[in-house]
Amino acid sequence: MKNEKNEWKWKTIIEPFKIKMVEPLGFTTREEREKVIEQAYYNMFNIKAEKVLIDFLTDSGTGAMSATQWAGIMMGDESYAGARSFFNFETTVKDITGFDEVIPTHQGRASEKILFTALECKGKYVIANSHFDTTRANVEATGAIAMDFPIKEASQFEKQHPFKGNADVEKMEKFIKEKGEKNIVMCVMTVTNNSWGGQPVSMQNLKDVYEMCSKYKIPVFIDAARFAENAYFIKLREKGYDKTPVKEIAQEMFEYADGAMMSAKKDAIVNIGGFLAMNDKKLSAKCRQYLILTEGFSTYGGLAGRDLEAMAIGLREVLDEKYLHYRIRSAEYLGEGLKRHKIPILNPTGGHGVYVDAKKFLPHIKPQNFPAQALCCELYIVGGIRTVEVGTLMFGKRDAKGNFLPAPMELVRLAMPRRVYTQSHIDYIIEVFGEIAKKKDKIKGLEVVEMSDMLSHFTAKLKIKG
Ligand SMILES: Cc1ncc(COP(=O)(O)O)c(C=O)c1O
Repeated sequence: MKNEKNEWKWKTIIEPFKIKMVEPLGFTTREEREKVIEQAYYNMFNIKAEKVLIDFLTDSGTGAMSATQWAGIMMGDESYAGARSFFNFETTVKDITGFDEVIPTHQGRASEKILFTALECKGKYVIANSHFDTTRANVEATGAIAMDFPIKEASQFEKQHPFKGNADVEKMEKFIKEKGEKNIVMCVMTVTNNSWGGQPVSMQNLKDVYEMCSKYKIPVFIDAARFAENAYFIKLREKGYDKTPVKEIAQEMFEYADGAMMSAKKDAIVNIGGFLAMNDKKLSAKCRQYLILTEGFSTYGGLAGRDLEAMAIGLREVLDEKYLHYRIRSAEYLGEGLKRHKIPILNPTGGHGVYVDAKKFLPHIKPQNFPAQALCCELYIVGGIRTVEVGTLMFGKRDAKGNFLPAPMELVRLAMPRRVYTQSHIDYIIEVFGEIAKKKDKIKGLEVVEMSDMLSHFTAKLKIKG
């Protein structure tokens, strides 16, 4: 319900759904959690989900499907080739993105692996507003170099800016001129920008990047994991879009790209799935060869027919503006609550959650002792809340002697699963932060016991700094 200014009238966030099926939460005692986290080597990924009360580790694949999606699951066509579910999925992706070649994959990183392998990037560069960590890892696994060009406001956490996910077009162009356009294989625009706070990219920026890259014949692909949240931010914040339906905004976003890759585990509100979409017939043919080699035939791509059906429905449901209002407002509400406890957060709050600035909150912990990871552990111990570190542990770069190089940010990401938690769960999180804030000086840093070379934060073993 909106008032005469077209603003939402009520303070209470109305979840635009009612709950038909419930799952119990993992209640534990503080004593139990202290043991659990020690046994998990202070790594959130090692904690059994049943020992977690509120799981804000990720918004990826953790959403609740609708009754319509579950009905779609029952209607899934499991034919190996040419399944009806594939064509339903293909029609939906074509309708939203406008791209003709649609390739299903089992998740985002499978799309990345296939795309960058097909592009033959070795020794060249992939440029982006910011690569997500799996995107960077897949670019680098091909022997290419991933370069990020976020705007300077992205790292000014206190500053308000409507589109902190934007790319710095001038810097990008300078880099292209320096390295030579032949050495730049692709430009990736991640919407929203997960690594820097789930911040949106404006339509103008998508247009500017596309026009600039087109001049040098560099293809632009949108990493569309959170395309609907990005489109809704454009509606809220960019001049001229307030009356445009979100679906039309999303369609326009894809006009400023040559293709897209998507982890459907986010804005298609499914538990597994992804895709690649493009117009380039030669590139898509090559991608399909790798798809068949690694994922499966081109009309199922590592998924069951029922998954394709659920993805098609989710891609349409996510564009419902009542849902998007609830989602974006929930993140804002969490941010407002944290600010009341003087918790420094990244401003404004993002599309899929809230990012806490642990460097500022815990200045007594050095980056080498992972302040954001220490805060993640405290949130689990005090409140059974699981979150994730985006900082020195995640980026994991080390010098020749093996010492950690501080990451540009030390953030705790509170990522909200879609349609899973209610306003009272958020109130509880705010309360837990209030408790933590009172004794924050007592929180200790961590040290590494064991760590791998690639995407190491998933498996790292840590202990409390002695
Ligand atoms: C922006 C972005 N791109 C790609 C991925 C990778 O997707 P997936 O986890 O489905 O492999 C993610 C996952 O979180 C993401 O946030």
